[in-house]
Amino acid sequence: MKKFLSVILALVMVLSLTALFVGCDSDTVGENETTAGDTNAATDAGTTAPDETEKPVLKMGTNAYFQPYEFYEGEKIVGIDAEIAAAIAEKLGMTLEIVDMEFDSILTAVNEGSVDFGMAGMTITEDRLLEVDFSISYANGVQSIIVKNDSPIATADDLSAEGATYKVGVQLGTTGDIYATDDFGSDRVTTYSNGNEAVLALAGGSVDCVIIDNEPAKALVAANEGLKILDTAYANEDYAICVKKGNSELLDKINAAIMELTEDGTIAGIVAKYIK
Ligand code: ARG
Repeated sequence: MKKFLSVILALVMVLSLTALFVGCDSDTVGENETTAGDTNAATDAGTTAPDETEKPVLKMGTNAYFQPYEFYEGEKIVGIDAEIAAAIAEKLGMTLEIVDMEFDSILTAVNEGSVDFGMAGMTITEDRLLEVDFSISYANGVQSIIVKNDSPIATADDLSAEGATYKVGVQLGTTGDIYATDDFGSDRVTTYSNGNEAVLALAGGSVDCVIIDNEPAKALVAANEGLKILDTAYANEDYAICVKKGNSELLDKINAAIMELTEDGTIAGIVAKYIK
């Protein structure tokens, strides 16, 4: 009972803090904002949920060029992260607002407080843990290598072979960028604002391969002729939500929500909708 009360108290504190926070909303980072849709809240018969407009806003920072986790369907940002985040917000009694920005701006936006949390197929890394706190992981990722169908690159080892000069395209600030720069040196790595641009550079011959997470890699290969994904993975990773360092009130709520949404199958259902 005591625990229950303290959970309620913490929730009230998060809600009132967020309400305060949302009140001074002038310095939003990012070009585009959208509210994530499909939580089905409005369609559930008999729900007594308060009017969406009365709920406090929970702001998520993302980079919406990362199908199937976050991407545009018309004006709206959809995807696995968008839907899981909407389900989390619903559990917190809040309305999700998604702010699209460069991937490498997300940690700063979280720490400056222009968004409440970051969710972007973001990998937990030691370095990022110095800057922000991460939730429990809600998904796994694999860094994959995309090449042209007729590429001489057959495995990840070919990239690091003695004398290899292959050029690698990555999205700026991603783990693909960080690992490739460590392994092959910055001279061989070209950074792009998103995976699409990196893949266009590959198709145009400016780079010899693109290192990017496996599910976005599949979407990019499906959307562009003449490309394939190598069978050998480059790295395995865990995705999580990040919050401002020390914001354990919000983090605890997010973790509790992720656990519940895992246990009741909601997360698996969302993933299955996007990854066949
Ligand atoms: N998992 C990789 C990382 O954390 C790539 C994430 C890129 N996400 C995005 N929404 N563009 O660095």
